[in-house]
Amino acid sequence: MRTPVMAGNWKMYKTARQAGETIRVLAGLVAGVDGVEVVICPPFTALAAAVEAAGGSGVAIGAQDCHWENEGAFTGEVAVPMIADLGCRYCIVGHSERRQFFGETDATVDKKVAAVLAQGLHCIACVGETLAEREAGQTLAVLERQVRGGLSRHLTSPRLVIAYEPVWAIGTGKTATPAQAQKAHAFIRGVAARAADPAAAQAVRILYGGSVKPDNIAALMAQPDVDGGLVGGASLDAASFAKIVRFRG
Ligand code: 13P
Repeated sequence: MRTPVMAGNWKMYKTARQAGETIRVLAGLVAGVDGVEVVICPPFTALAAAVEAAGGSGVAIGAQDCHWENEGAFTGEVAVPMIADLGCRYCIVGHSERRQFFGETDATVDKKVAAVLAQGLHCIACVGETLAEREAGQTLAVLERQVRGGLSRHLTSPRLVIAYEPVWAIGTGKTATPAQAQKAHAFIRGVAARAADPAAAQAVRILYGGSVKPDNIAALMAQPDVDGGLVGGASLDAASFAKIVRFRG
């Protein structure tokens, strides 16, 4: 039995004050929801305010990226112990926007996931194909390469969460159909079973991301291998994200 995770990735939106306000409203709206882990990942500058606003609620806070070293001469970077010290419990790694615009590779994903898990945080590690890769029939090959290249050492950790985010569905309003999502999630679980072991593969939560909205989350969650959502735009508004958290109705 895998507990669903609903995670909001706020990307480069919201000041510390705005983050605190949204999280206070969200905490009220999701109070009493059982059996769903709720996570919000604001920008680094809002993490402290977010942790404070979430205090005592069921909402966990996470970062959107990290460095793989625990400290060092890496101007502009943020280390996992610093993120943990703020009271964060999650960190996203390998988002397609990091891969596309900031040179993230499967090799850096592997090192970052290791750093996150070593500090006792949960890691939401992202994989997903581009439109060109899907149209070229390479979706499953890309997913296998990303899972084996970035995640194979970490698949037995109970704190690893995988997010399948088809790049063509991110911010486009084009959600993968529930059947497309299920096919990719089942494939990822199969790769995990071969790369690690079947028990670990059965236990790992696999989230879907890409234009998740209140009106499509229930159909996605009805798929057997979809264990939650990684939500961009629709997580910026507390009422809309609360509806996604309450996908059971
Ligand atoms: P949207 O929900 O805005 O499509 O973003 C998805 C995403 O990238 C979450 O990490």
